[in-house]
Amino acid sequence: MTRRISILGATGSIGSSTLDLIERNPDRFEVAAVTANSNVDELAAIARRTGATLAVIADETKYSALKEAVAGTRCAVAAGENALIEAAQAEAELVIAAIVGCAGLRPTMAAIEAGRTVGLANKEALVTAGSLMTETARRKSVDLLPVDSEHNAIFQCLAGESTDQIERMILTASGGPFRTWTAERIDAATPDQAVAHPNWSMGAKISVDSATLMNKGLELIEAHHLFGVSADRLDVVVHPQSAIHSLVEFVDGSMLAQIGPPDMRVPIAYVLGWPERIATPVPRVRLADLGRMDFEEPDLQRFPALRIAREALAAGGAAAVVLNAANEVAVELFLANRIKFNDIPAIVEQALNRHSGPSPASIEDVMEIDRGSRADARLVAGSFCR
Ligand SMILES: NC(=O)c1ccc[n+]([C@@H]2O[C@H](COP(=O)([O-])OP(=O)(O)OC[C@H]3O[C@@H](n4cnc5c(N)ncnc54)[C@H](OP(=O)(O)O)[C@@H]3O)[C@@H](O)[C@H]2O)c1
Repeated sequence: MTRRISILGATGSIGSSTLDLIERNPDRFEVAAVTANSNVDELAAIARRTGATLAVIADETKYSALKEAVAGTRCAVAAGENALIEAAQAEAELVIAAIVGCAGLRPTMAAIEAGRTVGLANKEALVTAGSLMTETARRKSVDLLPVDSEHNAIFQCLAGESTDQIERMILTASGGPFRTWTAERIDAATPDQAVAHPNWSMGAKISVDSATLMNKGLELIEAHHLFGVSADRLDVVVHPQSAIHSLVEFVDGSMLAQIGPPDMRVPIAYVLGWPERIATPVPRVRLADLGRMDFEEPDLQRFPALRIAREALAAGGAAAVVLNAANEVAVELFLANRIKFNDIPAIVEQALNRHSGPSPASIEDVMEIDRGSRADARLVAGSFCR
């Protein structure tokens, strides 16, 4: 039996790695729906190559171009936000949620509502919807399988373990491209320098998040919801070699770690094959070549985003939605060269100070708070823009 997989965000970094594994295993997997935001050429090429049955482009102005580009295939075509929902709910055994940002929230929730197993890369969806998402997954008996390498590592470490015997979860962080830079040098960092991650090849937004360490903050919130662990039992350690992808410490003092190459195809393969493992073509970790593994505390002075995210997690209510929205706005401005690198956490912190409110009670609430927080963050950013 082949397993039918839909990929939301098929043209991105996670989408490409997923497709690479699927196409290497044609006897095990076939492609159902694929989506993109605006990259018609790549989406059409994927649909043609894989025999996908539905291709959806979020940007409605690109509908005709997509239709033309897949003409002559059996692939149906649709466009717009509602069509993303249709793609998320298309007949499939597994949906890889790999849209970047809060834009992925509605489609990811739609996949869960439809009872599809979800491979979750789109961390912003879980950060913003939190317990709304995990409760829906529980109600629908849906497995949320973590694609994010840290959470996937923890998921692997937890296999066969009982959750009441966990003492701590420790997320590893590479430290990003500016780990050894002075605060002054970091302040002058350019977008090109920020996206040049030392160990991982990823999309632009998550690369900037890795450089500020906001990515680790979002991951703390993600881990809290995914594994039901309180904030005081979630730690971060900087591990520049990115060989250990995270650890679990148990009540007896034992620690389990997952080690693997810094290639997203490893965690994605675990999700695609789960509960079995499938082979990957990635170069193996040679421990003797690695030689040593280093660990250090994160520097919250030079990288305040991690502290700010922790505070948002502790504050609860709507804070995680505000944090995420303000960060998305600030990262976009930084990538457009409108603000400096250190303005990103400053804008997020100021946006958080302007907004407090109860936890969203529905996805509509989340989207409403997201919209308001973006507007707030743009206002705040005005005084930073050049
Ligand atoms: N890359 C990694 O190694 C990695 C690791 C762990 C977790 N993640 C998480 O996985 C998610 C995807 O990351 P990525 O690095 O793969 O991002 P990416 O390379 O930027 O790809 C993003 C994908 O989402 C689509 N998209 C963007 N905006 C959209 C919108 N408004 N509506 C619908 N689709 C939209 C893009 O389509 P177009 O191509 O048309 O723009 C593309 O297919 C993020 O949440 C990230 O945090 C990534």
